[in-house]
Amino acid sequence: MNLPKFRKIRVQSYRPGISRLSKIKNIVKLSANESALGVSPKVKKEINKKINFSKYPDSKSNNLKLAISKKFQCEFEKIICGAGSDEIIQIICQLFLKPKDEVIVPQYSFLMYRIYSKINGANVLFAKENNYKISVKEVIKKVSKKTKIVFLANPNNPTGTYLKKNELLQLRKKLRSNILLVVDDAYNEYIQKRDYASGLKLFKKSKNVLILRTFSKIYGLASLRIGWGYGPKKIINAMNIIKPPFNVNTVAQLAAVVALNDKSFIKKSIRHNFIWAKKIKKVLNKFNIITNDVNTNFFLLNFNNCRYSANYIQKKLENNGIILRSMQTYKVKNALRLTIGSNADNKKLIGILKKIFNK
Ligand SMILES: Cc1ncc(COP(=O)(O)O)c(C=O)c1O
Repeated sequence: MNLPKFRKIRVQSYRPGISRLSKIKNIVKLSANESALGVSPKVKKEINKKINFSKYPDSKSNNLKLAISKKFQCEFEKIICGAGSDEIIQIICQLFLKPKDEVIVPQYSFLMYRIYSKINGANVLFAKENNYKISVKEVIKKVSKKTKIVFLANPNNPTGTYLKKNELLQLRKKLRSNILLVVDDAYNEYIQKRDYASGLKLFKKSKNVLILRTFSKIYGLASLRIGWGYGPKKIINAMNIIKPPFNVNTVAQLAAVVALNDKSFIKKSIRHNFIWAKKIKKVLNKFNIITNDVNTNFFLLNFNNCRYSANYIQKKLENNGIILRSMQTYKVKNALRLTIGSNADNKKLIGILKKIFNK
């Protein structure tokens, strides 16, 4: 019998970090950069109110787009909502890429850029970083006639470093105008540096930049799968043709509107992150574990100067029910990624680390 033939896809699929440990019930998961304080209590109230489960969702996420355009003072028609910013990345790649096109991503970067690019047949080129920071010069070095898209997150995952406002503007200037620059603002709410500006702020009016935003981080809605893209009308219109009709479910749309408007909860989450990140960084540095500055809700932990290896610490923490993200799939050597957790999570982490290091 001849089986129906499908394309050969030579791509390593996304492998999420582990979220369970056999034998341990109460785990502390600090591996996926999720929100430490969870979701605004107002969201939970709203969800309990009035959802009609039997009806299809609004295919255009109109109320949510209206809320986004109000909050960020941007144009309604230039917004597209997706099942996570993940789906927006998928649609961009589907729209722009054909086999043999080239895509540039930073050496250490969010895995979905390379995965969707490869699925669409493109070759992915990795631009070297300097001391875990994206280098504009190295990105430009990789440009060829075939370059179609440059993807980057700012601040970057998994490194937690960022390109300054003037560096990002410089990058756009130096790239050929027919190369799409995708700036992923996933962690923008956490950074408090004066020389930083989000992609949305810098490129609202650009004709060749697409911005990504997510509700999975500061808004605490990772499980509902919701994110959005912002870009030139022509591109957004074409993306809307590809987009599955009911890609964002009703619960996600409602929850996102409420989360977006709960300013005090957002403020509280940012403050929590900042205070704990500073405390945790101090502890880590004492044990000669090198980290990025506080720019995100996570740290990349580098063990090159530490008396223990990343593997050793990962195992020790897991034995105590704490999960950090291995950096093997990201190809960062001797490193782990740690998400800032709740008060209880962070206290437990610090306690266990002190035990491991006998301090
Ligand atoms: C840089 C970056 N972009 C996008 C995402 C995914 O976001 P979403 O949950 O909206 O698909 C992540 C998740 O970790 C991320 O780190």
